[in-house]
Amino acid sequence: MTSAYVLNGPNLNLLGKREPEIYGKTTLADVERSCLEVANELGWDLEFRQTNREGELVDWIQEAGQAQAAGDAVGVVLNAAAYTHTSVALHDAIAGSGARVIELHISNVHRRESFRHLSYVSPVAAGIIVGLGVAGYPLALRALADLSERS
Ligand code: DQA
Repeated sequence: MTSAYVLNGPNLNLLGKREPEIYGKTTLADVERSCLEVANELGWDLEFRQTNREGELVDWIQEAGQAQAAGDAVGVVLNAAAYTHTSVALHDAIAGSGARVIELHISNVHRRESFRHLSYVSPVAAGIIVGLGVAGYPLALRALADLSERS
């Protein structure tokens, strides 16, 4: 079965408890459930993961790119969290693996501190969903379906 990857970066394990005025009270387990519903509807397996480690995100993006090349994956919804704003390694992993990536941020990073305005992911992302709260996750999965049908 085709897989969709939803990869979450540092501190997103604290979702629901962490700065709820910015990120809301929904937990990552709740987000996973909402993604599972959409994945089931679309007939996909879901690889929903979180890590606080940059290199692990690199490994997972490479894995997704290989699976996509083999026709076994549709792409990645990536909330790289703070690594978005710092990581050339993530940029290179996306470019080098050819993984189809939708960049996602729960908060509107452009309304926040200027250091959040730069993204190393955006130039290699197929699309971006920003500031729609956790509702962005299922939307991003549907966007992956549309994009993969078009390519
Ligand atoms: C975030 C925004 C980032 O700037 C921040 O470092 C995060 C979460 C978001 O989902 O809004 O950890 O990616």
